[in-house]
Amino acid sequence: MEQALMEQNNPAPAVRMLPTYVGSTPHGTEQGDFLVLELGATGASLRVLWVTLTGTEEHRVEPRSQEFVIPQEVVLGSGQQLFDFAACCLSEFLDAHPVGNQDLKLGFSFSFPCHQTGLDKSTLISWTKGFKCSGVEGHDVVQLLRDAIQRQGTYNIDVVAVVNDTVGTMMGCELGAGPCEVGLIVDTGTNACYMEEARHVAALDEDRGRTCVSIEWGSFNDDGALGPVMTIFDHALDYESLNPGAQRFEKMIGGLYLGELVRLVLAHLAQHGVLFGGCTSPALLSRGSILLEHVVEMEDPFTGAAHVHAVLQDLDLSPQASDAELVQHVCAAVCTRAAQLCAAALAAVLSRLQHSREQQTLQVAVATGGQVFEVHPRFRSILKEMVMLLVPECDVSFIPAVDGGGQGVAMVTAVAARLAAHRHLLEETLAPFQLNCQQLIVVQAQMREAMIRGLQGEASSLRMLPTYVRATPDGSERGDFLALDLGGTNFRVLLVRVAKGSVQITNQVYSIPECVAQGSGQELFDHIVDCIVDFQQRQGLSGQSLPLGFTFSFPCKQLGLDQGILLNWTKGFNASGCEGQDVVCLLREAIGRRQAVELNVVAIVNDTVGTMMSCGYDDPHCEMGLIVGTGTNACYMEELRNVASVAGDSGYMCINMEWGAFGDDGSLSMLSTCFDASVDQASINPGKQRFEKMISGMYLGEIVRHILLHLTSLGVLFQGQQTQCLQTRDIFKTKFLSEIESDSLALRQVRAILEDLGLTLTSDDALMVLEVCQAVSRRAAQLCGAGVAAVVEKIRENRGLEELTVSVGVDGTLYKLHPHFSSLVSATVRKLAPHCTVTFLQSEDGSGKGAALVTAVACRLAQTTRV
Ligand code: G6P
Ligand code: BGC
Ligand code: BGC
Repeated sequence: MEQALMEQNNPAPAVRMLPTYVGSTPHGTEQGDFLVLELGATGASLRVLWVTLTGTEEHRVEPRSQEFVIPQEVVLGSGQQLFDFAACCLSEFLDAHPVGNQDLKLGFSFSFPCHQTGLDKSTLISWTKGFKCSGVEGHDVVQLLRDAIQRQGTYNIDVVAVVNDTVGTMMGCELGAGPCEVGLIVDTGTNACYMEEARHVAALDEDRGRTCVSIEWGSFNDDGALGPVMTIFDHALDYESLNPGAQRFEKMIGGLYLGELVRLVLAHLAQHGVLFGGCTSPALLSRGSILLEHVVEMEDPFTGAAHVHAVLQDLDLSPQASDAELVQHVCAAVCTRAAQLCAAALAAVLSRLQHSREQQTLQVAVATGGQVFEVHPRFRSILKEMVMLLVPECDVSFIPAVDGGGQGVAMVTAVAARLAAHRHLLEETLAPFQLNCQQLIVVQAQMREAMIRGLQGEASSLRMLPTYVRATPDGSERGDFLALDLGGTNFRVLLVRVAKGSVQITNQVYSIPECVAQGSGQELFDHIVDCIVDFQQRQGLSGQSLPLGFTFSFPCKQLGLDQGILLNWTKGFNASGCEGQDVVCLLREAIGRRQAVELNVVAIVNDTVGTMMSCGYDDPHCEMGLIVGTGTNACYMEELRNVASVAGDSGYMCINMEWGAFGDDGSLSMLSTCFDASVDQASINPGKQRFEKMISGMYLGEIVRHILLHLTSLGVLFQGQQTQCLQTRDIFKTKFLSEIESDSLALRQVRAILEDLGLTLTSDDALMVLEVCQAVSRRAAQLCGAGVAAVVEKIRENRGLEELTVSVGVDGTLYKLHPHFSSLVSATVRKLAPHCTVTFLQSEDGSGKGAALVTAVACRLAQTTRV
């Protein structure tokens, strides 16, 4: 199996492992009427069914069916004859069972080894089981059937899907506790199928989800691997068959062969004088004179002996009294071996499933079908016992097929229809998240206009706040500094030692409980001072008054380096009595309340500025800072002459754009979806930070959650079952997006993550959740890229340059942890700002280091001025 899955063809694998293009097990909610044509399952007959799927298990509608015996000359004739015969049977059936004026959708159950290349494309590899029609091997049997239906010309029938009988059996299985993921047929021939991880199937270009593989295990042993198990009777049977050397495993198990094996053993024993007084008869020596039904009758514990006599008499043999028991023994031996071999093969499948799913105990349902199960009294129990012995760690339930698999074929046809409908709804839902280049260019242009208006002091959703940082570090800064870093995932206190050519940082993370972040301002700042005191004690700095830089990652109107009036809280913060106040004063007041400490607050710095400064220390081209974390924002070096609110015409000033608020004037409404609106409405600042709410870590998980709720309500996800957990706010963390979207293990992770949340999901669900995450994070990265493009283009134009080379210092958990975010941002910037060469530098030490550098620059300048 493994060789074949990996397409290792040397030596040729003994089983075929053929993908069936069935990618999901049924929901039980499939509906509709379907025509089913079965060819090749039981003997030389053909069945036509009319199957009605009601969508509920309670109301089953019995299918209408009709069986047609295929004349032997057709079984061994030309392909055209065979398919014309099939088309004729279809017409006859429809004449006899009028179904009204509706679309006729047909599922074709064709039980021979086929290379499928789609749900309705299937090339016969070779005939098995007594069929041998010319001109079919190597051809698409769906096309042959369509052609024949057309030649027939009476009905317009759409052949929607072609299915192996094992697949029909698995798909038609009555839903038990869990999905049925294995189909096993022991009919005229034998075979099994199961749900394999798609990434293990080399023939498929798909690393996501599961796919049903038809093992075609009948050909196992064609390479002689079972040599020691094969008897002289197996060799003789194979030699005389229509396909010598092929399907040698099937020939030890399939119903077409069991009677023949018994016949060969009986003849052998008679010839050796063990049976029938050493006499044979021409009938006993003729191929096909003992059939499966004879074997079954003879094995019957109650009436068996009488049947033995009758069967032997029909073969012109005169059995002696002692013969009956021996004959029964032979029958039992042949059938027991068949069941045991079948069990061994099934055990191989189950243990593969168990290993690939990494489950200690595998709970699995196996759908069984075929006349051997139906007629042989002990086949099922021997099989079960043997499977338990071989794979005791698997908890297997065997479930008999409904309607000989016809229902399952209808299911596949219906599933194909359902998947197409669901995919359509998914695509419709995600379409507004798929931004094209034109839309991004519009965002870029709007951003650009809002920047200019903001700089000129006109009404704009971009505040474009001066930061009083006029230069990036030049490397001559020295000294020890304290820094605070508030507003991201962590609150940190840092000691930053800036020496010649090196910056040493010691930091400590403290938590800010939500009740403090949303309590009173006094409590918040007292807590901050407590943390500083604790840090000083730990670092042996008590009593020293080091210059302090404060990274405060919220919109502040600055009037100088050490003055910052909080305009409004963002993200999860909402401490009372702070908005409109100078944050440096609030900190100084708290220090005053805690009389034991003295602190010298020199600068207040936004995290974007801290990040730019920190990266600027190593790269003089770094003129922009970008944060994509809990919130999002950017800053850059603007020409002072463009900044209306600060006097002076030469030189630069770093502008904190506060781009999170972009669109708060309604300008982004054309991009905003109903999911964005729900997230906004449920936030603590409705109507505010609209750009941030489409981009940053605090919100992406929530957007995804709202989309999942919507898709569930449409029945596209989780079988339409709304769960409490998915209704819980913030349950879907943005870090899940990063995990879910990472590399090829994605789907397993999706399942694990969602199962942790208490959701049960199918592979299809997992795949769709992944697509939702991708759509949401992709839009976020593209919007962010459009923003960056607007900024770098403005810098380029400010300087009148044809081409600009610029670096952007970046920080934030989303940017850093998400597997594709950063490359999508870069790609968007390359597209929208083709004349700028932009390098993104990830800040390693957080913006605390930058705050210390701003403080250092300020101290240096103060000293120079004094001198
Ligand atoms: C840096 C800064 C934080 C800032 C953060 C954003 O590391 O030091 O103050 O807010 O980046 O990232 P986050 O994902 O933590 O919000
Ligand atoms: C065929 C399989 C089929 C099995 C059971 C084999 O001979 O090759 O495709 O599933 O018989 O009908
Ligand atoms: C704040 C900004 C900050 C950004 C990133 C936003 O919510 O308003 O000041 O830079 O988050 O942390």
